[in-house]
This record gives sequence, structure tokens and C-alpha cells, in this order.
Amino acid sequence: MTITDRITNQYGYYTEDYREFVITNPRTPRPWFNYMWNGHYTGLVSHTGGGFSFLDSPRDNRINRMRYNSLPWDRPGRYAIVKDVSTGNYWSLSWAPTIDLNYDKYECHHGQGYTTIITEIYGIRGEITYFVPTDANAEIWRITLTDLSGSDRNLEIYTFTELLMGNALNDLINQPNDKHFTDIHFDVNLQALVATRRYWVLNKGVSVKQPNIDWKYQIYFTQTLPITGFDSSLDTFIGRWRSEANPEAIATGVMQNTEITAGDPIAALQSKLELPAHGTSNFAVILAISPKGDPSPLQKEGQNLANLEHIDRQFAQLKQKWDRHLSAVQVSTPDRNFDLMLNVWNQYQAAVTFDMARNAGYYHGGLLFGTGLRDQFQDILGVVMVDPDRVRRRLLNALRFQFQNGSTLHNFFKLTNTGERTNHSDTPLWIPFGIVEYLNETADFSILDEVVAYHDDSESNAGGTVYEHTIRALDYAIANLGEHGMPKIMTGDWNDTLDYVGPQGKGETTWGAFFLGYVLKKTFPLLELHGDRETLSRFQTVYEQIGQSVNDICWDGEWYLRAFRDNGEPIGISAHTQGKIFLNAQSWSVISGLAPKERGDRALASCQKYLAKPYGMQIVFPSYTEVEDNVGLISRCVPGKKENGAIFNHASSWFVLASLLNGDVDFGFEIYQRMMPLNSSKDMDRYEVEPYVYAEYVTSPDHPTQGQASHSWLTGTAVWMLRIGIDFIIGFQPTLTGMAIDPHIPSGWQEFRAQRKFRGKTLHLHVKNPLGKNSGVSSMQVNGVEVKGNFLDLSLYPETELNIAIAQLEK
Ligand code: GLC
Repeated sequence: MTITDRITNQYGYYTEDYREFVITNPRTPRPWFNYMWNGHYTGLVSHTGGGFSFLDSPRDNRINRMRYNSLPWDRPGRYAIVKDVSTGNYWSLSWAPTIDLNYDKYECHHGQGYTTIITEIYGIRGEITYFVPTDANAEIWRITLTDLSGSDRNLEIYTFTELLMGNALNDLINQPNDKHFTDIHFDVNLQALVATRRYWVLNKGVSVKQPNIDWKYQIYFTQTLPITGFDSSLDTFIGRWRSEANPEAIATGVMQNTEITAGDPIAALQSKLELPAHGTSNFAVILAISPKGDPSPLQKEGQNLANLEHIDRQFAQLKQKWDRHLSAVQVSTPDRNFDLMLNVWNQYQAAVTFDMARNAGYYHGGLLFGTGLRDQFQDILGVVMVDPDRVRRRLLNALRFQFQNGSTLHNFFKLTNTGERTNHSDTPLWIPFGIVEYLNETADFSILDEVVAYHDDSESNAGGTVYEHTIRALDYAIANLGEHGMPKIMTGDWNDTLDYVGPQGKGETTWGAFFLGYVLKKTFPLLELHGDRETLSRFQTVYEQIGQSVNDICWDGEWYLRAFRDNGEPIGISAHTQGKIFLNAQSWSVISGLAPKERGDRALASCQKYLAKPYGMQIVFPSYTEVEDNVGLISRCVPGKKENGAIFNHASSWFVLASLLNGDVDFGFEIYQRMMPLNSSKDMDRYEVEPYVYAEYVTSPDHPTQGQASHSWLTGTAVWMLRIGIDFIIGFQPTLTGMAIDPHIPSGWQEFRAQRKFRGKTLHLHVKNPLGKNSGVSSMQVNGVEVKGNFLDLSLYPETELNIAIAQLEK
């Protein structure tokens, strides 16, 4: 592949195997982040070395600081500064914070679970790789320095990160007081700074009450070069009226060896390094965390955290882990961008959302949301193909936040196991959605018999089986149908910003009706298999009734209205001047199967007419320009952004799904293409955020910053685009009993291949489309033998590799 063949923009490009996005110009419109994590220890790292880390919970158990209110910067971070003693010049190996220097070279390689930044300046090539090992709660900054000047070099190395240690929300609101509890010393045996805080705020509320507990952890900061000095006082290291760009300790070359028992904390180390002409030096910085009282992770047997060979082995393991992960699905189609997303970045982003929820990003500060239940039960779809055991544990854990009556907390926090009961009407319904999807992938019906306590159970109550939890969620929704026979919207539905439509408990949601219908229908095969005829027929009746009600009262002529307010007035009708047509009410009329074909066609055509924009589908049109108190936050948000009329990618992905299901495959695929960040970020200076992952939204033409994206990384868009791509476009549709093969491809695709792991087997699919059709399997061969229909009953095949061939599509 030549350079011009590469997928590029003016700030960088993808490597040939798509596994890295390489940033070549650090002056990106915003910091472009990556994640490194192992399920417990997590770090966000930007292309300049900025970012923070935490263990388990970004709010309650933060390791280092990030300065939110100085956005759009990404300070502070994890910095390694090299100083040339003979000239006094010093520079950062990650570009920031010494950004005003003239670097001869800068490259940041964001890969899966690691970020490598390469710089050249003052005759030194620096390479720093940040990663989190798979099996230790630590982060490694692996560094290689090479002399390019041809002279012997007398260098000093300064590595530092500002610490937080504990509750990040409290650090924001009470830092002057909180700094009386820090405690850092240099451990001579370990040759490491050892840091802790003598107090831990675990409650969320802003309160003057103080807890009476220790922060449970200790942090260890060391490097593999001999240490010649250290500091743990931020003030001393940085010096008066300076910043991390020019710390006094570095400028003077003198560390004060401060060990603090109060004050703002930093972990800073100094080493000296003689680098011979053309010579190379390899070393690493290690930041580790472990419970107080445990042996230091630096000395833990078998772990060898501070040993370079061990570190390199761990990095190799990380790469293997991702090779394995991504091998769950690989596609080869005529659309290179589609392949790039599905094979690497979309799978990767979905894995990030599974672990981060909407809770630890540059745009999701990790202070407020915890893990949303609604999000959790969707996010499992991104990793269930790879790691069903983890998903199983996740589901069982999340079910603990359901109440006996079937309702749920809206979100929960790891470590404290607390959350908010907000009464969003859709949240409980994502439980059956997630459980059925898990079963479709795994056929692990044993999960249904697991017993999980309800959140309001007393000690003596035995909880309920997962099956009961699932049914109760639906029964709760059914018990909360309103006057029109549709779900009461309560505090909102999927759309959080319709939060004042029904606070009095009367307002109802059309999208919610379709969604309830969809989820009911999704459970039918399960109820059937479970032999629960009584529930099945009850749910079937409700499904029919909902369809009847919605079609009787919600059809506005060209589309479905969106909701009824408490006072009975509709939202989302053509007679209004703002918020006339909402996307979700149309897409889900089709996805639920509740719209008669003719209405579904017209509803989607109306979306195409009013909502289709260059980067995807606008969520509502026209955006609200005047506040309507009985709608909610949506009308307070500026027009064209967020839920008030942006290209809201999560909702846009559902329109794609509806179009595919409705037979509008070419248009559906076109919207899919428009949404892929490679396309929507074509005007990068407008788009601004990372071009390798989906953003929550792109500003629509209703705002002067049209084309600007925000809230990258943590969005339900990731799993839906991934699964729509795999399940509906490529056509691997797992069911309780096997795998249906049902591609929906653009008519321009003459042929494609794809591979997917499924229940211990690898399915290799080869589809030919000589007639330029969109769907409809003519005939299918499995390992050379013709099968009836397009369904794969795995029990018929002892082989682990199955070659599935489709000679032509015909619809
Ligand atoms: C955000 C929330 C998600 C919600 C969506 C629409 O993405 O994380 O839970 O459904 O906004 O309001």
C-alpha cells in the first residue's frame, strides 16, 4: 500500500492493518484520547500524554488528577521530560506540556490498549509507550531513547504525574481541605515513592459530613533507571508561578526530595543517563496500586513489575489479547471504511463502552453517572461474542439493582453499590433485551435459573431467578400503561431530555410503546422454549393491544407522534412549529413490527425527507428554539446539538436498522456510511473529535457549528453500529437455536466474505451477489452441502470450521 492509499486526514492516518491510528500533527482540534485498561485498572491517555487513571471507579477511586475546568486542554498527564545537561534544553517525550518547542518529528500511535508517542528533537529520538498490563493493577510507561546526533549525551530524565488518590468529586469541591490527608514517602528498599491518603470519601452527596475511613490503597511510583532524586510536593516540584511546562526542579536540575504529610501531591522522579553517541537506552516507569497492608506489587513474586523483560512480555500478551478479541469477527467487503470499522475500531470502541459505560471519558468526567442500567444491557452486545463469561457476570451483577416490583435503579456505582431511582420508563425493559441477546449468543439457559436478590429484598427474602427478574421487568412496564394504553413516560424514556413530558404520571410515550412491543416480541421464542405458555399468551395479547392503541391514536398523517404530555397534548406532530417529527418514533414503529407496512414506509420516507443530513439522521426536526416547560431539557438545549436536533448517532443507527428491515437497504446503508467517523469527519477542523470512533452526536445544520462532533467514545452508537453491521448487513443473526444467515447489502456489492466465531465454531461466509440485489438468500451450502433455507442448526455439524456459501441474493 502506498502512502496515498492510506486512509488519512490532515492530522494522521491508519496503518495498513488498521490496527493503529497515527497522529502526525499534534495540534489536533481537541485532545484525541485512547484507553488502556484491564477490567480494574484504567487509564485514559491523550495523544499528548494527558489523562488520568483509576481503579474500578473513576469517581470514588481516582489515582491521578485531570483539570476539568480548563478544557479543551488535557492537563495534567503522565509526563517524561528529558534534559540535556550540557545545553540546559528540556522537552517532553509526549509533546505536551513543552509544546512550544520545535519538534523535528512527532507521531502518536493509538492502538488497542496502548499508545506510543515518538518524538525527535535536539538529536534525541524518544519513544514512550503507555499501557496497562493484563494481569497487574498498574500502568507502564515504556521508554526508549536513542541518540541521533552522533555525540555522547549527558541527560537527566524527569518523570511525573500529579496524584489525586480517592474521591475525584471531593477533590474538585474540597481540595484545600483534602490536602491535609496526603501522605507520601520515598521507600529506599523499593526505590519508589509510596503514596496514600489517610481518608476516603465514598458517599456521593455534597455534604459537610466527613467519613472516618482510610483510603484503602497505596500507590507505588518507580522507574527502572537508578533514581537520583524525587519530589512528592507538587508546589516544590513545580515551583512558584510556574507550570508543568517548566517545573523549577527540572529547570535547576535539583530535586528537593520532598516527602509530604500534607499538601498537593505529585509523584516525580529524577534519573541521570549517559547516552553514548548513536546509543540507545531502554527503561520504564511503573505506577502501581494495591491495597494497604498487601505486599508491594513491585516485589510481588512472579509479577516482576519493574523488570524490563517482564514488561515487554506483558506488552506482547496485551497484543495477543487484542488479536484474539478482534478475531471474533472479520469481514472483507467492497467498502474499505466499513471493514476498518468492523474489523478493528468499532469492535474496540464497543469493548471500551462495555467497561467504561458513559462514565470515564474526556466528555464523561466519571463524576456523575456511574453505570447506567440501560446502557449496560446494550453495551454487552459488543463483547458477548468474545467473552460471554464476563457478560454473564455483568448481567448477574446488574440485576441486583432491580426492585421486587420489576423496576430498577437507573444507574449504579461500583464499589458503593448505590445509585439513583429516577423512574425512566424504559430502563427496566433493557433487562429482557440484554438477557435475550445473551442467550441468542450463548444458548446458556442455565443463567435463567440463577438466583439474584432484588435491591429491596430483606435478608430473609430469597431473591428471584433471572427468569423471574426478566418477566418482572416486563410486567412492571405493563402495569404502568396509561390512559391511551401506552407506557407512561414518567421521568423520560431512552431520550433523557424528554424529562418533563410526564412528571405527574399521566404523559405517555409512543417510542416507549414501540419499544415495549419490540421487547415483548423478543421474549416470545424464549417463553416458548421455556414452556411458559401462560406468560407467552399474556404477552402476545399485550403486544397486539399496544399495536392497536398506537395505530389508533398516534398516527399523525405522515408519521407517528412522539408522546402525550401530562395534559394530554401531543408532541411531535406536523401542526407544531418545533419538534414536529422525532426519529425514534418512526424507526421503532418498523423495528417493533407494529407499523402496518404502508405506515412504516411513510414514516421512514418522512424521516428521509426531514431528518436525513450529510452526516446521518437528525433526531428531531425542527430543533426546539423556544423553551417548552412541559417537554423538558430538550427544549433548553441549543438547537442543533445533543438531543435537541443533533445527528444523534445512537438514534441514527436505529434508523439504519429500520431501513434494512423495511427493505430500504441501499438508503439504510448510505446512512450507515454517512455516520462512519471516517466520513463524518472529512472536514476535520469542523468535526474536531477523534476520527477513529463514533461520537455521541454531530451538530446538525440547525446550529452554526454544524458538523462539529462531541462526546466521542462512550455512546451506545458503538454497539449498535457494530451489531447492525455484523447481524443485519453481513447477516449473521444469532437466535436461541442457532444462526440465521440473512445479509442486507448495498446493491453495488458483488461479493463479500466474513468470518464470525459462534458457540465454539468459526463460521466462514462467502456471499455472491451477481444480480446486484440487496437481500434474500437463494440457496445456501454448508461445507459443500446444500441446506434448506438460510438457518444454521449447529447441532448438525461436528466440525468446528463451517464454510457457508451463498451463490446469489435475490430480493
Ligand atoms: C446518552 C445516555 C443514554 C441516553 C441517550 C439519549 O447517550 O447515555 O443513556 O439514552 O443519551 O438521551
